[in-house]
Amino acid sequence: MNICIVGLQWGDEGKGKIVDRLSEKADLVIRYSGGANAGHTVVRDSSEESFKLHLMPSGILHENVLCVITNGVALDAEVLLGEIAGLKKRGIEAKNNLRISGRAHLVMDYHKKQDQLSEDSLGKAKIGTTVRGIGPCYSDKVMRTTALRVADLQNMDGLKEKLKRIVEYKNTLFAALYDDNEPLEYEPILEKCQYWAEQLAPIIVDTTELLHKAWGQNKNLLFEGAQGTLLDLDHGTFPYVTSSNASAVGLPAATGLPGRAVDRYLGICKAYSTRVGAGPFPSEQDNKIGDYIRDKGHEYGTTTGRPRRCGWFDAVAVEYSIRIGGINEVVMQHLDTLSGLKELKVCTAYHYQGKKLDFFPAEESVLSQVECEYETLTGFDQNLRAVCSFEDLPMAAQQYVQRVEEILGVPIRMVGVGPGREQLVSRG
Ligand code: GDP
Ligand code: IMO
Ligand code: MG
Repeated sequence: MNICIVGLQWGDEGKGKIVDRLSEKADLVIRYSGGANAGHTVVRDSSEESFKLHLMPSGILHENVLCVITNGVALDAEVLLGEIAGLKKRGIEAKNNLRISGRAHLVMDYHKKQDQLSEDSLGKAKIGTTVRGIGPCYSDKVMRTTALRVADLQNMDGLKEKLKRIVEYKNTLFAALYDDNEPLEYEPILEKCQYWAEQLAPIIVDTTELLHKAWGQNKNLLFEGAQGTLLDLDHGTFPYVTSSNASAVGLPAATGLPGRAVDRYLGICKAYSTRVGAGPFPSEQDNKIGDYIRDKGHEYGTTTGRPRRCGWFDAVAVEYSIRIGGINEVVMQHLDTLSGLKELKVCTAYHYQGKKLDFFPAEESVLSQVECEYETLTGFDQNLRAVCSFEDLPMAAQQYVQRVEEILGVPIRMVGVGPGREQLVSRG
């Protein structure tokens, strides 16, 4: 069974936790898009510190799983090597179980610098990126002549020539556009590349070939989506999105596998909504409710530490994500976080200029002005952290899940009641 995990909101839905959990039955776990902008948390055991993974697939805690980073990823080798070293300290030999694609694009220091310069120059119009160089790296991929791929590390003579040209280009660009007067030096960047080349050489492979072989052998493939559908470059809340196809539609291009290689798309959402960075957020609660959710759910960015914006569950947006991704089943995380609220609200429709909308709007100018129609449900008080079966949840919590399921029209198969690997309640 090949399963793809997809975020249904604006990221941070708890994808890492599900990937870790489902890795028990997977042969390969495949990270196929985004880069170190992602932060996926795995809590193996509540007595130890959590694992915060940015590029490393979240199956890495399972010894028998082969982890794969495919062509669609913007690969920051420094971050990846840091993660490998961090895992080693905790007794996990990640390199033995990791393969990376030669076709993945390298995130360089000048990409991160460009990300920062661009954001600084935009003032109020900034996107609120993670400043991990993602947009600039993918821009260079599309540009082609200014891109470096992982495979370039295997041909140092070629890389030297390209890098020299690219560094000159970036320096000219940064000086002209941003008045930057601290030009990058070619030598230290080259030295870094040489180090990455040595370190990564044994694990660079053609992941397209590897995945086709594994598929042919009926291995269980688990695809780990990053970000969320509403951050998808084409289908998200543009321009306040990331620079890759973070929804399920991105998978074929980002892996080289056809869409039919996936048997089941599992969408992940929270029992409420969060968003980091700028952009429209119709059900946002910039008030005591939002503060309550943020505090109770520890809603601070895994990658940047920024406080996440919080709001009610937006069924219009999630239903849209389900359509875009052909989602078969849903996992709802963080039900425990809603405990203590007297009333729970679910956004069931958008109104724009007095009219009810039929579909999630494409334009930011519309989405930023819609008014939410809410359905109000009864809240619950109990602590859910120790609950092991759906029937043991308080009635109001069960009813909340059932009502959201009804609105979404797709089964909610699992419900999260805490950050731990085991804190997932299965249904039917
Ligand atoms: P990802 O990017 O989708 O993998 O999600 P993140 O790791 O960025 O953010 C999810 C956060 O919620 C992490 O801190 C998780 O440990 C935590 N988490 C996941 N599921 C649950 C849940 O059901 N309840 C609670 N309280 N925390 C959860
Ligand atoms: P995971 O995989 C939440 C957001 C940023 C910003 C926008 C663009 O952990 O769910 P970028 O650095 O990608 O150019 O930033 O996208 N963003 C995320 N938000 N979770 C993520 O990943 C995100 N990756 C990017 O906050 O709004
Ligand atoms: Mg995250």
